[in-house]
Amino acid sequence: MNNSRYNTLDSSLNPIQYSSTRLPLESASTLPPHCYTSEVFFAREKETIFDQCWHFVGRRSEFNTPGAYKSIDTIAGSALVICSESGSPKAYINSCSHRGTRLKNHGGHCRQIICPYHSWVFDLDGHLKRAHGMQGVKNFDKDNYNLTPVRLEEYGGFVFINFSSGAICLETWIGDLPRQMASHTPEKLQKVQWNASFRVNANWKFLIENALEAYHTGTVHKESLGSQDSEAIQSQGNWDALFVPNEGDKSIGTLPGETQQMPFLPNLSSRGRTGTWFTVVYPCTQIVFSQDCVWWLDIKPLSVSQSQVEMSALFPKDAISHPDFTQHVQAYYDRWETATKEDNVIAEAQQNGNSAGSDRAGRYSLREHCVHKLNNWVLEQVF
Ligand code: FES
Ligand SMILES: [Fe+2]
Repeated sequence: MNNSRYNTLDSSLNPIQYSSTRLPLESASTLPPHCYTSEVFFAREKETIFDQCWHFVGRRSEFNTPGAYKSIDTIAGSALVICSESGSPKAYINSCSHRGTRLKNHGGHCRQIICPYHSWVFDLDGHLKRAHGMQGVKNFDKDNYNLTPVRLEEYGGFVFINFSSGAICLETWIGDLPRQMASHTPEKLQKVQWNASFRVNANWKFLIENALEAYHTGTVHKESLGSQDSEAIQSQGNWDALFVPNEGDKSIGTLPGETQQMPFLPNLSSRGRTGTWFTVVYPCTQIVFSQDCVWWLDIKPLSVSQSQVEMSALFPKDAISHPDFTQHVQAYYDRWETATKEDNVIAEAQQNGNSAGSDRAGRYSLREHCVHKLNNWVLEQVF
């Protein structure tokens, strides 16, 4: 045990409190409400989970031309991700090495990185090239004031960053996810123009737990998706998935009754043709591998009770270049926006209810096996 990691452990957080969540699913209790409302618990999650984990950035294709950039804000830090001169994405702390000014907002394209405060100029590889007005400053060596790099790694065209120099690599983090999802060939799929973004007044766990169970679908999505069956899968590494079998040949990328469909991905495994994997790269990046597309729902915690949700999707290049794609894909965007808004409303209701004055834990249904697993993973990190 590394004691330095436990310096901020508030004495009010005692692992014994959560022993009933540790029991096998059929005997276990849920995490008590304070795990979703307590600043102390959230501070522990930041230190033990978010400061150590891989944070989702987007797709490699967003950084294909030198100078294409995007700023990424996480609870662990803010990064500027930019395509270098060599054509590969790099990440830096989004802070100038002079007096710390934030360098870039949102996304865009630049030929060099110019600080908005005193115009220090950095190249796309983060090297300080010009610092005017610094003549006469003693022992000032530009080479010592390059931007601070952030680790960046990729899987299947998905880009992730990590603010910890000691964290395990992305490949180890996600274990056998690439092997299990290989037949969807995510590396060959292309991102659509569509992005959706939601600010939700709910703890990050409520959002990602909801994305890992279909128990709620018959209630929350009664008028849209309707009820869904689900199956457990085996996973190795810091990820999990819920497998949702489809009805016949109908993709669940569109609403029931919707006839508009894209063709299935060309090389799907036999199981891949029968359903959809709702995977979650722990802690809170959902990548959904469906028969005709891949979409994601990435959650960035902002505070103990507020989160940012970002969504987008991938289709085969052939589908995207089809002249009717824009018209056909609308049914998918409608389904994702409709269901996500319904989920966000219930997550806010859950945040409210869990802040209502009781700290009593509930029980899991057997359909909430992925929620139980995630909650136990959280406890393992926090303690
Ligand atoms: S803070 Fe960036 S140039 Fe001064
Ligand atoms: Fe849902």
